[in-house]
Amino acid sequence: MRVGFIGMGNMGRLLVTALVRAGALRPDEVIIHSRTAEKRRRVAESLPGVQQAYSGTDLVRRCDAVFLCVKPGDTGAVLAEIAPYITRDHLLVVINNTVTLAMLEERTPARVAKVIPSVVQTVARGASLLIFGERCTHGDRALLVRLMGAISRPHVIAEADVRAASDLTSCGPAFLSCAFQALAEAACRRAPGLPREVAEAMVRETARATCELMEQTGYSFADTMQRVSTPGGVTAAGLAAMRERVGGLWDQVLAATAAHEAVKREQLDL
Ligand SMILES: NC(=O)c1ccc[n+]([C@@H]2O[C@H](COP(=O)([O-])OP(=O)(O)OC[C@H]3O[C@@H](n4cnc5c(N)ncnc54)[C@H](OP(=O)(O)O)[C@@H]3O)[C@@H](O)[C@H]2O)c1
Repeated sequence: MRVGFIGMGNMGRLLVTALVRAGALRPDEVIIHSRTAEKRRRVAESLPGVQQAYSGTDLVRRCDAVFLCVKPGDTGAVLAEIAPYITRDHLLVVINNTVTLAMLEERTPARVAKVIPSVVQTVARGASLLIFGERCTHGDRALLVRLMGAISRPHVIAEADVRAASDLTSCGPAFLSCAFQALAEAACRRAPGLPREVAEAMVRETARATCELMEQTGYSFADTMQRVSTPGGVTAAGLAAMRERVGGLWDQVLAATAAHEAVKREQLDL
């Protein structure tokens, strides 16, 4: 089995590095290509045994499965190059939401799937999303579950749900960081003697421990709020203020990502 990755930017590099380091792929099973030779050379040097392909076509000819790790806007150019060489024996995997499985099935005879990774897979943690096209075989499903299972907790979902689910798993680290940063900053405004880095460390530790508590006890989010918040107490007062201000916020956030993606999809030229 040879697995190829086209695009050695943030996510391509992250996936190859995490999968090889986790032992999910042997270096000699991996072939990489990127538009800029220096980028693929740097990745190959950091992972001895990983091979370079000198074009997308070269990579496709040598691989059974191909991950397209380019931005949606670059997908058309990559497909124009590789589509004539893609056969029904290839598994073609896209890692963004904008390009749909139907678009890939229309352009190629490949078995197609979508994997939505997350930056937290740098530390081989977090959730990933898997969406399988109808042409995928049992072996394709097993392969992607095995690969992503080595560096994350994979969730197989329907393509219709992938935008909202990606907001949780892929945009999630950014959204949570934004909320956590705002909490730490508010504490620093109230307590000027509290250094910002100490406040941020407190929030990180609390977030990590809250998740561990929930994992170990089986508490839901509602259970956790109830455990901390005694009626008439300070946490209850804080939660009430929060609900008043935050109500509807996340609906707006998810509406914004969905609207942005719809525009990008309209602009796609595959
Ligand atoms: N960032 C996240 O947390 C995240 C999470 C999930 C999914 N994604 C998805 O991952 C995809 C990639 O994002 P990214 O942040 O990794 O982007 P990126 O850093 O810009 O990387 C994209 C890479 O694609 C390469 N490329 C472009 N056109 C090419 C071509 N014709 N042939 C070969 N290589 C080509 C570029 O090559 P050179 O640099 O070599 O020129 C670049 O390194 C996006 O679709 C994004 O939606 C991102």
